[in-house]
Amino acid sequence: MNLVNVTDYVEAAAAKVDPSVWCYFEGGAGDEVTLRANVAAFDRWRFRPRVLVDVSEVTTATTLLGTPVGMPLGVAPFAMQRLIDPSGEVATARAAAAAGALMCVSTLTTSTHAEIAAAGDGPRWLQLYVLRDRQRTLDHIHEAREAGYSALVLTVDLPYVGRRERDLRLGFQNPPPDLHLPYAGLFETSPALTWRDLEWIRSEIPLPLVLKGILTREDATLAVEHGADAVWVSNHGGRQLDGVAAGLDALPEVAEAVDGRCEVYVDGGVRRGGDVLKALALGARAAFAARSVACALAVDGERGVAHALSLLRDEIQLGLGLLGCTSPDQVARSHVEAALPYDSPA
Ligand SMILES: Cc1cc2nc3c(=O)[nH]c(=O)nc-3n(C[C@H](O)[C@H](O)[C@H](O)COP(=O)(O)O)c2cc1C
Repeated sequence: MNLVNVTDYVEAAAAKVDPSVWCYFEGGAGDEVTLRANVAAFDRWRFRPRVLVDVSEVTTATTLLGTPVGMPLGVAPFAMQRLIDPSGEVATARAAAAAGALMCVSTLTTSTHAEIAAAGDGPRWLQLYVLRDRQRTLDHIHEAREAGYSALVLTVDLPYVGRRERDLRLGFQNPPPDLHLPYAGLFETSPALTWRDLEWIRSEIPLPLVLKGILTREDATLAVEHGADAVWVSNHGGRQLDGVAAGLDALPEVAEAVDGRCEVYVDGGVRRGGDVLKALALGARAAFAARSVACALAVDGERGVAHALSLLRDEIQLGLGLLGCTSPDQVARSHVEAALPYDSPA
């Protein structure tokens, strides 16, 4: 059967990968309320297309922190990619570069930064976990700098790892003891990290700093005050605190608090080009996807990721044209409205 959209890849991946590994990729924390909310949130918005606009030329290209990218959708950092494909992050990096998508590489990568850099020259950012072992974190940052990453994405929603019950049920050990993680060692993030540590990170590496895992206007404001170059609205794919808002639902309050002072991104539940367009309309400069990419990687390696990203890019392009926009920059708040339940009283 032909795989014609990302949901087809999600189903094919679940059928293919050993459940005792796949639980880690597909699961969320607790009752998975937030995991489900991430996907469901997109259906509560509908488009308000404009017509009779010349859309004979539509581009999906944009810039993220000044870096040109082929589309307003990037690959979110996801850990341990060699668990689902022998080339892991290297395969994803090649496919992302071919699709013009920015790739954010996890601290829990199973490939080295040098290997990933050798795979292609697409735009890449480094996702950073600050470990209890700060020297190890410093060594990591310096190696990443040599490998040509153009921004640092500090994940701030993981002082502790969330309780993921699918993993517990099937005995998945995070991380698996026999898996080589070149930059994480005994993976223990620092629960003592605070706003004050941002200075320390900045002084070690003069790259733009993105804060990933912001969900409130309060923290968005603090992020701007502490000089963040971008905030990334995320609930970590529903894998950390269950019961928080869907990424898309937290986006408007963060975008409003930021008020154009830095770039805003969002992730969580992106399966369609239309999801990306709704995110743009609600204030994001770009959206990111992890599981959509992971599923394609598990199903067909580099080829799968390249195909899934090209499907998403085509959906974004078609959606822009049908919305009456010729570029991502033109998508505005007026292009969406909240969808009321049809049976609600007027
Ligand atoms: C298997 C898996 C591993 C992940 N590993 C990381 C990670 O190492 N660092 C990080 O900041 N986020 C990590 N995330 C969270 C993603 O970056 C992202 O915030 C989230 O998954 C987006 O939702 P989506 O999977 O519905 O696209 C991971 C997510 C998944 C599914």
